Amino acid sequence: MCVPGRSITLLLLLLLHLFGTATSSPVSIHTRAPPLPAQILPPSPLPAILPSLPPPPVSRPPPKPTSVGDPADSSSDCPLKMSPSALVVRFGDPVTVNCSAARIGFPLLGWEVPLEAPPATTGQYVVWSVPSMTEWSIKPACYALSEEGGQCDIDLVVTVYQPPERVSLSLVNHTGPLLEGERYTLQCTVHNVAPVEKLAVTFYSGGRALARLRSGNNTEKTPVTKVFTLDISPGKADDGAEYRCEARLDLGPEGPEHPPVVASKPLGTAVLFGPQLDCPTKLRVREGESLNCEVAGNPQPVVTWYRDGQVVALPARSDRKHAGKYTIWTKGLLGQKNFTVEVEVLDNSGTSSICNQHFILAVSLIQTIFWL
Ligand SMILES: *[C@@H]1O[C@H](CO)[C@@H](O)[C@H](O)[C@H]1NC(C)=O
Ligand SMILES: *[C@@H]1O[C@H](CO)[C@@H](O)[C@H](O)[C@H]1NC(C)=O
Ligand SMILES: *[C@@H]1O[C@H](CO)[C@@H](O)[C@H](O)[C@H]1NC(C)=O
Ligand SMILES: *[C@@H]1O[C@H](CO)[C@@H](O)[C@H](O)[C@H]1NC(C)=O
Repeated sequence: MCVPGRSITLLLLLLLHLFGTATSSPVSIHTRAPPLPAQILPPSPLPAILPSLPPPPVSRPPPKPTSVGDPADSSSDCPLKMSPSALVVRFGDPVTVNCSAARIGFPLLGWEVPLEAPPATTGQYVVWSVPSMTEWSIKPACYALSEEGGQCDIDLVVTVYQPPERVSLSLVNHTGPLLEGERYTLQCTVHNVAPVEKLAVTFYSGGRALARLRSGNNTEKTPVTKVFTLDISPGKADDGAEYRCEARLDLGPEGPEHPPVVASKPLGTAVLFGPQLDCPTKLRVREGESLNCEVAGNPQPVVTWYRDGQVVALPARSDRKHAGKYTIWTKGLLGQKNFTVEVEVLDNSGTSSICNQHFILAVSLIQTIFWL
């Protein structure tokens, strides 16, 4: 019998060998490109392309002797700036925020905060610093007093978070294998997470995401335990796959570079399904091949082939006399199916001529190389 793959591999090895001894140079694809002539061009007039530059800084306005405005509408023209402008901090982590006045003329700057408030200052900035954030809900504000006794302030938005302590997944009121087509409920419990508002969970079956759920409008700031449920109707694709749920805190651009993600342990479950036939109604086989049809199921379904109402044993090597109409009867745990298939047996001539073509091609390649 002709084995085209093998003989071609041998020929290729021979070719490689010939090439190697002839040139005895390592195969190299990358060659350094010569310097491009474009790089020697004179610099183009840049100002035409550049975006217009910001206007030159105007000189600092003199300190306003008047009041800074009443507190009610102060935030819009309150000349205070915070860095960072919003704070996302993990519970227990340190915090440093710098509040500075954009211009002079404030006798006093300070922080209004219940935790480690720094003393008010007559300087240009005041830093609030905490070695360990121990408040879940905190609303700091930075204020400035004017000479007239007016006050303005800006708030700092603080998000104190705690990644889930643990995430667990279970099936509600069910143990053991699942049945195809039945409905079940997956329950994902996220333990001790804050703030729950920013929490989202994703359910998976194997590598496939089934659903992504967000928690509702719960504005609780301290850690809570939240339960998410998902109704599922498992099938063949879920058999042997593992269910998983993954909890994630979406903390936004101010948050950590890698948002906290905690996954449950996988929940391995068998799904009882089938029989499922994957067979064309016209089945073409080559002479000598076996007759076969994919029948999937868990447990593996029983398959019986009939021809003219008689049970037939399937030939390990088919020949022309096996062509014809068959009925496949298959019975699984969840039901049975009959399927009609027309078998066509193709003769085997032709394969050898394909082999010869490969051989001739390889030989002519060798000849070309000798010519070079
Ligand atoms: C606070 O901000 C002001 C203004 O940007 C800056 O001059 C000062 O150095 C900062 N202080 C600290 C401790 O970062
Ligand atoms: C689970 O089963 C218990 C006891 O049979 C029942 O009280 C409860 O409602 C069931 N829960 C669900 C979600 O079906
Ligand atoms: C959440 O709040 C928004 C606005 O307050 C409201 O429109 C929405 O219906 C609420 N959703 C839930 C699930 O309560
Ligand atoms: C399938 O075919 C077999 C054999 O002909 C027969 O005994 C059985 O009743 C059929 N089953 C169904 C579901 O049609």
